[in-house]
Amino acid sequence: MAVIAIDTPTDAQLRQWHRVVVAACAHDQPDEPPLDFEQTRARLLVPKMASRTLLWAEPGPDGDLAGVAYLRLPDDPDRAGEIDIHVRPEHRRGGIGTRLLAAAGGALRAGGCRTVFAQVVAGTPAVPFLEGRGFHCVLTLQSMLLRMAEVDPLEVARRVAEGRPGYRLRRWTGTVPNELAGQLATAKIAMAEGEQFRWDAARVREMAGVVAARGDDLYTVAALHGPSAAPELAGFTEVVVPGAAPERAAQYDTAVVPEHRGRRLGIWLKAAMLDWLRAERPEVAEIETDNADDNASMLAVNRELGFRGQREYREYQADTADLP
Ligand SMILES: CC(C)(COP(=O)(O)OP(=O)(O)OC[C@H]1O[C@@H](n2cnc3c(N)ncnc32)[C@H](O)[C@@H]1OP(=O)(O)O)[C@@H](O)C(=O)NCCC(=O)NCCS
Repeated sequence: MAVIAIDTPTDAQLRQWHRVVVAACAHDQPDEPPLDFEQTRARLLVPKMASRTLLWAEPGPDGDLAGVAYLRLPDDPDRAGEIDIHVRPEHRRGGIGTRLLAAAGGALRAGGCRTVFAQVVAGTPAVPFLEGRGFHCVLTLQSMLLRMAEVDPLEVARRVAEGRPGYRLRRWTGTVPNELAGQLATAKIAMAEGEQFRWDAARVREMAGVVAARGDDLYTVAALHGPSAAPELAGFTEVVVPGAAPERAAQYDTAVVPEHRGRRLGIWLKAAMLDWLRAERPEVAEIETDNADDNASMLAVNRELGFRGQREYREYQADTADLP
């Protein structure tokens, strides 16, 4: 069989794709809840910010898909691409993964993109697969999980009520209020030091639009400082509740801008988020978060709130010239 490009996936192809990903994940992360079909559909079909989605698959002998490859190709070739490859356990080690990677590699090089990332679970076959094909590990991430049933609502309410002198909370769903959009972008830049992504007010709104287009809900809590006519955004935290699977929410960005650090704003913001979600979205049973394993302050905040270490992820990077 050979790799085929999938330009506009049909509903049948989306379902086959989903089955491959579910089978691969069930094999490598048996304790994880299975992905919902709507999440797969949205991932493949909803347009991403500043990039295109390219898809390939290889059918197996039974005609069903045996392996699939997703590539996020940035519009700006100076930015990095992202790939994600899945092969059904029963079809592994026959070269399908390598052929799919070669298809993505060709598209990356043709697009002038020199760097590509992949995120994998530590200790799974993806590690030797990538390390043998031009990738090296650039970051180790700890994923942590908070079970809402283990959260003491009174304790959370107490943390929120403690307040922080000179600061007040403001929260919103979806897109950031206009007057705070520029400052939210600045706070995101402070968080993403060294990253190539240039946040600005338009990008922040676009990101909220992408989440909404997937059918998910974005919740943001911010800490404001200074006069109410001209507030200064000192920090924020974001959580996304998937429309299709609201039981497992995902922590998105949290940042405190440098001038306001060291005042325990991070834990205050996150406690306020928990308090809000518990009241507003009682169906959320768990919140998942990923942090770089050298981000000691964020890991400590999460532990203090009751998040427990779940698994280790690794981020791999390759020069596209080194891909098969
Ligand atoms: C990683 C993955 C895509 C590889 O698919 P595949 O079809 O088996 O890939 P190939 O047959 O082309 O290459 C297999 C190579 O991976 C490595 N590998 C795979 N499983 C391995 C294992 N259990 N132990 C050691 N090496 C292993 C080896 O280098 C192997 O080459 P070899 O068979 O010649 O020794 C597949 O294991 C998978 O779907 N994993 C889950 C999803 C995932 O984590 N994807 C990575 C994101 S990019």
